[in-house]
Amino acid sequence: MASNEVVQRGLQDIVAVESHITFIDGKGGRLLYEGYDIRELADRSTFEEVAYLLWYGRLPTRSQLDDLRQRLVSLRPLPEPLAKLIDTLPTDSNPMDVLRTAVSALAMLEPSEAQPGPNSIGGALRLTAALPSMIGRFQRRRVGLAPLKDRPDLSHAENLLYQITGKEGTEIENRALDVALILHADHELNASTFAARVTASTLSDLYSAVTSAIGTLKGPLHGGANERAVELLLECGDLGRVEEVVTAKLARHERVMGFGHRVYKVEDPRATILRAWLHTVGESAGNLKSYDMLEKEREVVHREKGLYPNVDLYSGSVYALLGVPKDLFTPIFAVSRVTGWTAHVLEEYRDLRLIRPSALYVGPTDLTYVPIDQRGS
Ligand code: CMC
Repeated sequence: MASNEVVQRGLQDIVAVESHITFIDGKGGRLLYEGYDIRELADRSTFEEVAYLLWYGRLPTRSQLDDLRQRLVSLRPLPEPLAKLIDTLPTDSNPMDVLRTAVSALAMLEPSEAQPGPNSIGGALRLTAALPSMIGRFQRRRVGLAPLKDRPDLSHAENLLYQITGKEGTEIENRALDVALILHADHELNASTFAARVTASTLSDLYSAVTSAIGTLKGPLHGGANERAVELLLECGDLGRVEEVVTAKLARHERVMGFGHRVYKVEDPRATILRAWLHTVGESAGNLKSYDMLEKEREVVHREKGLYPNVDLYSGSVYALLGVPKDLFTPIFAVSRVTGWTAHVLEEYRDLRLIRPSALYVGPTDLTYVPIDQRGS
């Protein structure tokens, strides 16, 4: 590459693929899945319906949705060797590592689902159905409880909450989680989706692509931000200390997790919706502490840095009110985003082009090899 070429660090503003799935209007604060506004989907749809929309590019008829629901329920149980594998992992493992390992193992146990190509939709359904079972199995084991019996009567969100907490959520709790799953399902070419598409673009299999994506989502600048956002609230302790702790953090030039976004220059529309749900869930639980603290944090960060909240500011606090342990916040993100990852992988398989950017070489070019015994100490 010639030295006058410009390096776009972090591939910022580079358009790498054509996609039919998600549109983000970063200046207008709008997010569309297959043309439908996220606000309308969060209001009127369900996670299963949104999964269908992402995979097939259109809303399902009633019978198509019923069929998808039944297939997802039937694909929930884990094969015995995988259940055993999860039971042998250290109980203090990071649950994202558990998920990554479990998905990777499933590829070897069910190789036909993992094959690249248009039939990978079977693998997309399998992974979407099985992720809550993987999380539930690990969660029960690490707290010393037996795995739960399957509950085919529960929706995806209801089952997820049940698998994690061991009890059925209230109507408000279940709907809050369903909405959170809708909001996280896809987000254009975010880092984990890009990782999935890069893997798929080598004609590797769908499960490998999802394994890459889980490893990418784990990082605190991506999916891990929701956990850090809740940790900051714990550090503050109460409303009275938010101003002082957050201002000091910004003065040290540290990042406040849950704020800022590569694409949105206004508030992330998902954050607006989840803020309202945090209020609803908090009010029904008689506990608006995290809501009030986050309102203060929002005011301070906007005043000091001009930054707006992103979805991760609120998701962790909603999950915490539902009784979800902190280190399962990012795995819940994966439970939702696996639909987007797999939709993108299917899109990649349909119009495959190896993703392979270039680097601007800035090292030396004229060194002569020195034998090891002449290199000094
Ligand atoms: N707290 C404090 N300062 C920030 C923050 C923040 N959260 N975000 C950006 N900035 C500052 C940053 O320090 C920089 O300042 P300066 O120009 O003085 O050095 C400026 O804003 C631009 O930041 P950047 O890192 O160049 O912008 P980016 O487009 O690479 O950042 C981001 C996007 C999400 C990595 C960043 O905003 C961030 O680190 N946020 C916190 C992590 C977070 O909440 N991640 C979840 C993202 S949304 C969920 C998802 O889709 O994954």
